[in-house]
Amino acid sequence: MKLGKTSIALAVVATLMLLAAIAVVALNRDDDLPRAPEAAARASDADLIARGEYLVRAGSCYGCHTEPGGAPYAGGRAIETPFGIVSAPNLTPDGTGLAAWSSDDFWRALHNGRSRDGRLLYPAFPYPNYTRLARADADAMFAYLKSLAPVAKQNRPHALRFPFDQSVALAVWRALFFRPAQFETDSAKSPQWNRGAYLVETLGHCNACHSRRNVFGATAGPLDLAGGLIPIQNWYAPSLRDNAEAGVGDWPEREIVALLRSGTSARGSVQGPMAEVVARSTQFLSEDDLEAMAAYLGSLPDGTDATRRATGDINTASAPSEAGAKLYTTHCAACHGDRGEGVAGAYPALAGNRAVAITPPANLVHMVLRGGFGPTTPGHPRPYGMPPFATVLSDEQVGQVLSYLRASWGHHAPPVSTLEVSRYRGAR
Ligand code: HEC
Ligand code: HEC
Ligand code: HEC
Repeated sequence: MKLGKTSIALAVVATLMLLAAIAVVALNRDDDLPRAPEAAARASDADLIARGEYLVRAGSCYGCHTEPGGAPYAGGRAIETPFGIVSAPNLTPDGTGLAAWSSDDFWRALHNGRSRDGRLLYPAFPYPNYTRLARADADAMFAYLKSLAPVAKQNRPHALRFPFDQSVALAVWRALFFRPAQFETDSAKSPQWNRGAYLVETLGHCNACHSRRNVFGATAGPLDLAGGLIPIQNWYAPSLRDNAEAGVGDWPEREIVALLRSGTSARGSVQGPMAEVVARSTQFLSEDDLEAMAAYLGSLPDGTDATRRATGDINTASAPSEAGAKLYTTHCAACHGDRGEGVAGAYPALAGNRAVAITPPANLVHMVLRGGFGPTTPGHPRPYGMPPFATVLSDEQVGQVLSYLRASWGHHAPPVSTLEVSRYRGAR
């Protein structure tokens, strides 16, 4: 009798496992490949390649697929993830790169997240965004990459921890979190808005940073954009749906365009990973495309929570400490001004700067410890720099000076503890 129950239980478990395996296989099936459109075939090679180069820049392919100091697009850069290291491969038309690839293979990688040999690809490659690319755009990008000089560079093997190095784990992840998809045009919106949504959702892969991730590293959808801490780097990519964070719903369109074009604008400037996005990608976009992105970003509803709005400028945090005030006067006021007013065109104002008030203090800690330069762009040819204070101030002092900024100009934001500074100091 007992044996009978056990075997029934085993049979149920075995059946469930079989069904789960069938489901995982079924959910990893490729989407049917749309045929290459005739428009791409008709365009002259030079036009196609030029358009492809533009799109490859819009997609920031360079940053991941180029090793620091290495040949462009020849791969080798190690992308650190919470699950281990994934190396970005060679995209030049060499035998070690894309020489043997067809445009169908390339499309399959971007759209289905599958390599030429059928292997599933890790989502450190943001194909959950690129899946929505138009086929014609993928073909143009492929034509551009094929036009590059071939560089012989064998791809480095990944170094993922068990069980993340198992293809079964990746198949299950994809069954749960990835489906090949197409961009859906919203016919109630203008063509400009739709163009902006397409760029933000697909090539710009803005949500790869500006979105929460669950414990499996999956983002909450390409248009979530509600802000998230970037794993490993520990920079906080603020919410694009909250005008108190990175939302631009209350910015004039020309300021949004200026920010994406030059990295700086009258309303704010970019730092850290966002400076790379501007330097490598958005500064090269056409005026029309930047205006389209601005129209889309500006239309996102403001999700600033009601309590925050109600507190407005009233500072409910602790009073500024004397130690913090002294540190500010000694180390910061020369550039940022005695009252945090900054110097127009050179040093950002800290008074009224929303970056000071964003609750996770990650970016403030990074700025003070490591300093930084804005991106070098034609609108900002010689950006002013901020010196790193990692060897000048102790963690406690960094906490004190940041708590001073918060208490003076951070609205309701809580002070920054020594512990938080130490936590982010460890991160890169
Ligand atoms: C955030 C980093 C990142 C960005 C941005 C990125 N890639 Fe990748 N890419 C990777 C990584 C990592 C892999 C390796 C994935 C794997 O092997 O499982 C990869 C793999 C690929 C592959 C598969 C190659 C092969 O040998 O299987 C292609 C094709 C590719 N990327 C093209 C692109 C293009 C085109 C762009 C720009 C539109 C781009 N990538 C942007 C990180 C990136
Ligand atoms: C590699 C990660 C990453 C990607 C990709 C990324 N961002 Fe950001 N972004 C950040 C971080 C981190 C910040 C906060 C630091 C700062 O303000 O510069 C930020 C800040 C911003 C801000 C606020 C700037 C300010 O002055 O307040 C805007 C607007 C923005 N991003 C838009 C975008 C758009 C649009 C895209 C897609 C084209 C994008 N970001 C892609 C990481 C990223
Ligand atoms: C030599 C001039 C200089 C000094 C001294 C200096 N800063 Fe800065 N600071 C800058 C510049 C330039 C930037 C913009 C850098 C960039 O865009 O990456 C900046 C940016 C910042 C930001 C980011 C603002 C934003 O919009 O996100 C913060 C916060 C900040 N500084 C705080 C401080 C604090 C705190 C001190 C003193 C411990 C300090 N700075 C000292 C020049 C300076």
